[in-house]
Amino acid sequence: MKIAILPGDGIGPEIVEQAVNVLNALGETFEMEMAPVGGAGYEASGHPLPDNTLKLAMEADAVLFGAVGDWKYDTLERPLRPEQAILGLRKNLNLFANLRPAILYPELAGASTLKPEIVSGLDILIVRELTGDIYFGKPRGVRECPDGPFKGEREGFDTMRYAETEIRRIAHVAFQAAQKRDKRLTSVDKANVLETFQFWKDIVTDVHKEYPDVQLEHMYVDNAAMQLVRAPKKFDVIVTGNMFGDILSDAAAMLTGSIGMLPSASLDAKNKGLYEPSHGSAPDIAGKGVANPLATILSAAMMLRYSFNLTEQANRIENAVKQVLANGLRTPDIYEAGTTKVGTAEMGRAVLAALS
Ligand code: IPM
Ligand code: MG
Repeated sequence: MKIAILPGDGIGPEIVEQAVNVLNALGETFEMEMAPVGGAGYEASGHPLPDNTLKLAMEADAVLFGAVGDWKYDTLERPLRPEQAILGLRKNLNLFANLRPAILYPELAGASTLKPEIVSGLDILIVRELTGDIYFGKPRGVRECPDGPFKGEREGFDTMRYAETEIRRIAHVAFQAAQKRDKRLTSVDKANVLETFQFWKDIVTDVHKEYPDVQLEHMYVDNAAMQLVRAPKKFDVIVTGNMFGDILSDAAAMLTGSIGMLPSASLDAKNKGLYEPSHGSAPDIAGKGVANPLATILSAAMMLRYSFNLTEQANRIENAVKQVLANGLRTPDIYEAGTTKVGTAEMGRAVLAALS
């Protein structure tokens, strides 16, 4: 079980360190190797996804990823920006299935901006397609506008597209995930306006024939955004494209009160995966020892579950996290009066203690 450890930028190194400690405490034998990525990759070798880092990620059985990005790289040309590292890893490793659970821990119900009765007990799973759509579609760029009222002017453009295979395979992942849960799937599209998403809807409807036990519903993305804040518990599994999934998963994450709690898995067809917290690199709090390591620790649990089939060990970690929350420990992002404020390392140590 070889794990590539890619801490990245901002709070990445601090939170990944805690997750590595947890993995090392399980009594399993993991071979771990660390490499720079994102801004750290750029500093080390002039590219956000250095060749050796990509090679390591491709050879490993799983990747534990921290976060990338810092404002100081915003002026670099696009191919050199930290975000290109995660996009490059997704594409090169064929990690087309992004699983983003949004779970509200009962202890944190007060941290949500929504009323407790709207969110308590929330447990939804967003299945986001991750290697297609407008994110990777070509052509793209800035060109001279070829026609219409703005002909001859400069215009920025991107290409939204999905091949049938891409839709089918993510639909299968989503239906199978729904089968293991409440057997309800909402496919989110914009079929009323976009050709790409009418096609998406048709293909998902066709794949549904293989999963008669799952209840399928189609929903436009604008309505889905509204329903997520109106009645989020009505959802079980949501499947959608790369762009809509990016947006809806941030909204879903925030329903839980802290994006600092949410893990994610990005899987290929053989369940090789990259595991990362759903939050970003938070450069404003980097190095201060206050970042919440729980999303990364829970990402390590997802790794054990999906890539290594170590269900029991995954449960151990998830229970340990519940335990520290029940004990009242909180990093500043989830702190409320009456609980105990702790830093990154102390939270990590508490999870280690709760494991045994
Ligand atoms: C995410 C992030 C990335 C994305 C960025 C950092 C490229 O927002 O993982 O959701 O847009 O996919
Ligand atoms: Mg995002």
